[in-house]
Amino acid sequence: MSTQQGAAANEYILICTGISKAFGGTQALENVDFRVKKGEVHALLGGNGAGKSTLMKIIMGLHKPDTGSIIFDGRPYVVRGPADALNAGISMIHQELSSIPQLTIAENIFLNREDTFGRSPFLNKAATNQRARELLERFNFKMDPRTPMGELTLAQAQMVEIIKASSYNAKLIIMDEPTSSLDEEETQNLFRTIRDLTSKGVSVVYISHRMEEIFEICDTVSILRDGHYVGTRPVAEVSKDELISKMVGRKVTNQFPKVDCEIGDVVLKVEGFTGRGFHDITFEVRAGEILGITGLVGSGRSETMRAIFGLDEKTSGKLYLDGQEIEIRSPVEAVQKGIAMVNEDRKGYGLCLTRPIRENMSLASLEAKHPELLINKRREKVETAEVAKTLAVKASSLEDEAMSLSGGNQQKVVLAKWLMTNPRVLILDEPTRGVDVGAKSEIYALMCKFAAQGMAIIMVSSELPEVMGMSDRILIFREGRINGEVTREQILSGAVGQQEIISKEFGQ
Ligand SMILES: Nc1ncnc2c1ncn2[C@@H]1O[C@H](COP(=O)(O)OP(=O)(O)OP(=O)(O)O)[C@@H](O)[C@H]1O
Ligand SMILES: [Mg+2]
Repeated sequence: MSTQQGAAANEYILICTGISKAFGGTQALENVDFRVKKGEVHALLGGNGAGKSTLMKIIMGLHKPDTGSIIFDGRPYVVRGPADALNAGISMIHQELSSIPQLTIAENIFLNREDTFGRSPFLNKAATNQRARELLERFNFKMDPRTPMGELTLAQAQMVEIIKASSYNAKLIIMDEPTSSLDEEETQNLFRTIRDLTSKGVSVVYISHRMEEIFEICDTVSILRDGHYVGTRPVAEVSKDELISKMVGRKVTNQFPKVDCEIGDVVLKVEGFTGRGFHDITFEVRAGEILGITGLVGSGRSETMRAIFGLDEKTSGKLYLDGQEIEIRSPVEAVQKGIAMVNEDRKGYGLCLTRPIRENMSLASLEAKHPELLINKRREKVETAEVAKTLAVKASSLEDEAMSLSGGNQQKVVLAKWLMTNPRVLILDEPTRGVDVGAKSEIYALMCKFAAQGMAIIMVSSELPEVMGMSDRILIFREGRINGEVTREQILSGAVGQQEIISKEFGQ
């Protein structure tokens, strides 16, 4: 090794050189270089399908690269699977959660690392639980370590993944969109943990589509575009617009392309909805209106939406569509009556990952569009291709499995599926989670287009810039109740800002 290489090896924990990877006809990565310094938070930025997760999975030994070499902690790094990566000192929080629902929090964190009684093979559950309890406390995560994973919300499960990844004493932790299901408070907890880790010399690779986070927590940023390495810069030296144009390859001039359209009659009225996690919720949404709903995770936003859509039961409350009282007992009934809902958890509820993209897209509208017994496949192909084009879904073929899509493109397919039902009321729960900045503004533009056609849109979101940029009206949920309402005029005039909304979320 030359002295120059030696110095680099000292400064850098990870040096990837010339990495290429193809999946069938898709070149996911081409000759990519990527270096991470010791003790830094390094953002990896790129549009949906740019190759970020693929590169990280190669480092974890989940994919084998076609070409390239990796040096980790000064030594050539050979990895055959995640166990090798963990042993070397690299752990990863995956974009798609992978915990086992039957296991408890403690069992999940210490899977294959459980305590035993001395050398005996019998598991010492009490000791493992105690270790987990200490770990959870360190993260300020108030849960019993004996709770089964299946009982956790998406955000809580994400926190457990984060805690687990940090528990390996790793030198490098890869975080693939760790905050996509976290709210403001949980995100701040995570950031505190990240600062704590880096102060101990640990390096973090941080992947996120939320640009604000890059500037808050990252030191350095590298950009991938369509499988190619674009460059690396200190975060302090770049602007948000510069990053966006580098990753998208063009300028995104208007991040929130809200078009005000005529707001018509009340389409959906919710009256006195009460159930598990929400009490006496009353609101209405009009044709052409985009109603934003925000609040902390656990404030009852998603639960209320699930009850409207017939996914969860309510104990009391009434629902009116166009002034007529309706009863919805199941999602099928909701769709028949013209209500569609894009769920927050695309893996759990939204997609059949092993089925073709085309089938996933047409699933919710099959009955309406193909009343004949057999599915008209030719028509299905034409229609799905059209919608895929409108949403700019990046796939080599709609016949590929949904699993082969990048995270953000999976989200677009879920959206496509519900748009194909031509709903009167469209409920979107975190519609742009994991979607890149370019595609986000495309989805916002589509929302405006549908609103202009008279659709009533309800958008649940934790991302305040999005809620404030796109809503005609905002409801703020807190502890299962509506704790405030803000209008677009108040926001545009500056009468209400982000801080006021946050304090309503916290009940101050
Ligand atoms: N197992 C697979 N089989 C086939 N194609 C794949 C597979 N995994 C990834 N790809 C393809 O490789 C490309 C890069 O995907 P990757 O998941 O790395 O993107 P990403 O940058 O993480 O995007 P996102 O921001 O949406 O998560 C995409 O075109 C994707 O469809
Ligand atoms: Mg990804």
